[in-house]
Amino acid sequence: MSQPSSVPDHADAPEWWRSAVIYQVYPRSFADSDGDGIGDLPGITARLQHLADLGVDALWLSPFYVSPMADAGYDVADYRDVDPIFGTLADAEKMIAEAKELGLRVIVDLVPNHTSDAHAWFRAALAAGPGSPERARYLFRDGVGDGPPNGWRSVFGGPAWTRVPDGQWYLHLFDSGQPDLDWSNPEVREEFHDILRTWLDRGVDGFRVDVANALVKADGLPEWEHEHGTVDAEHAPMWDQDGVHEIYRGWRAVLDTYDGDRMLVAEAWVEPIERLARYVRPDEMHQAFNFDFLKAAWRSADLRRVVTTSLAANDAVGAPTTWVLSNHDVVRHATRLALPAGENPNGIRATDPQPDAALGLRRARAASALMLALPGSAYVYQGEELGLPEHTTLPDELRQDPTWFRTGGVVAGRDGCRVPIPWNAAAPAHGFSPTGATWLPQPDHFAHHAVDVQSGDPHSTLELYRAALALRRDLRLGEGAVDWVDGEADALAFRNGPLLVVTNFGVDPIALPDGAEVLLASGELGGARQVPTDVTVWVRG
Ligand code: NOJ
Repeated sequence: MSQPSSVPDHADAPEWWRSAVIYQVYPRSFADSDGDGIGDLPGITARLQHLADLGVDALWLSPFYVSPMADAGYDVADYRDVDPIFGTLADAEKMIAEAKELGLRVIVDLVPNHTSDAHAWFRAALAAGPGSPERARYLFRDGVGDGPPNGWRSVFGGPAWTRVPDGQWYLHLFDSGQPDLDWSNPEVREEFHDILRTWLDRGVDGFRVDVANALVKADGLPEWEHEHGTVDAEHAPMWDQDGVHEIYRGWRAVLDTYDGDRMLVAEAWVEPIERLARYVRPDEMHQAFNFDFLKAAWRSADLRRVVTTSLAANDAVGAPTTWVLSNHDVVRHATRLALPAGENPNGIRATDPQPDAALGLRRARAASALMLALPGSAYVYQGEELGLPEHTTLPDELRQDPTWFRTGGVVAGRDGCRVPIPWNAAAPAHGFSPTGATWLPQPDHFAHHAVDVQSGDPHSTLELYRAALALRRDLRLGEGAVDWVDGEADALAFRNGPLLVVTNFGVDPIALPDGAEVLLASGELGGARQVPTDVTVWVRG
């Protein structure tokens, strides 16, 4: 598509992804155009101006493909088509075209570890029976005695195996509606090359690759009975196997045949960061989400260590470092940062201790201002620019995350970070949906966070993000470097280009250097230009 002259210059920058700010749209909760209470593609298109005004470079959309929604669309039944609840293929094409008109790149989600159990391949596998080529696209095995082939556990809780009527079992690292593909099968590899080409031909700028560390399993599926995330994930036979890298080299080769700097970003909860950096070697993906940063406790030493090791590990392979604080799988950082240092529960219930909202927002603003001053690429999850907190009192009977069901109601899961966005305080559903319908209820206090309430208010979180993103672009912070400034024990201070960035994690206020010009502050400064607790400032001089 030829671009009109009004498209901003930065949209054409080579290797744009190295310093890009990428906004995550969670389609079902962003904007609902037809009033059914579920966000959709025309809703996104109608709100693209919000993203252009915010000053981000690109949007990444969580899946909008045909799906029975066993895991909110991360169970894909047809990778090439749009689910009717989100619209049509024509709506997707319109959204991509209009984003480009505004100078916004578009990244779509790719879910290669598993399909939906409603995918034509899985249906054919069930019909064809044991030993068939149709079953060989998935990980079907005979059980041991009456039990499953091994003791692997699902990430969402319960066993990772489900039995089919003829007695065989299939592997699903997530929900039973998400059977794992067998990536040693060349047919699977060819199919995904074709899916990549389909969306590249439709004009997308890249792919976010779901559980990129899971596609290859250790030979023979050796025993592993631990719950995920609890024990020694580094040696688990289903995570981060060396064989995954060859797959991404193949994908990179596909992307490189296209013009326009298309990119791949890995979602891979891999530790240590040196192992994660292997996904972004020059002939593999372009970026990987930096979850060490997201998980870091709100302490200067912890954050300094994570920033330093992240930059070093990525520099070593020539990749940009990424930064992320929130997404659709974790407690929103405006709530998480009010929890005891480093705590990161999978959801919060009304019966749990309720985090201090004011403290969470204050720290979230400071954390975001710190993140947006760092070199590399930053990811912003929809609503964080509004300082939106987690919904921590969602009625249990409304929960939809499979985690809630598969743990028998022990783990709340991720619904609390997926609540529809408030656009207009006074409108039905706060402007999310014309009818007032919402697939999850918005708490009343969401009205205070609405875009129309915050727009133009210089103290609002929305204006803080707009100012930070404009400065980040003008001062080319994304292309800069971190130069630590030692001093106060409870502060994090660094220079990036012309900027000095200071975050105060301690109790005592920190005095700014004489003559320093304050360009941005995440909270009110004290007298004589003191930086108070849990505030980040950007100064020049
Ligand atoms: C990671 C996605 O972000 C998450 O939402 C999903 O449940 C799992 N992968 C499984 O696809």
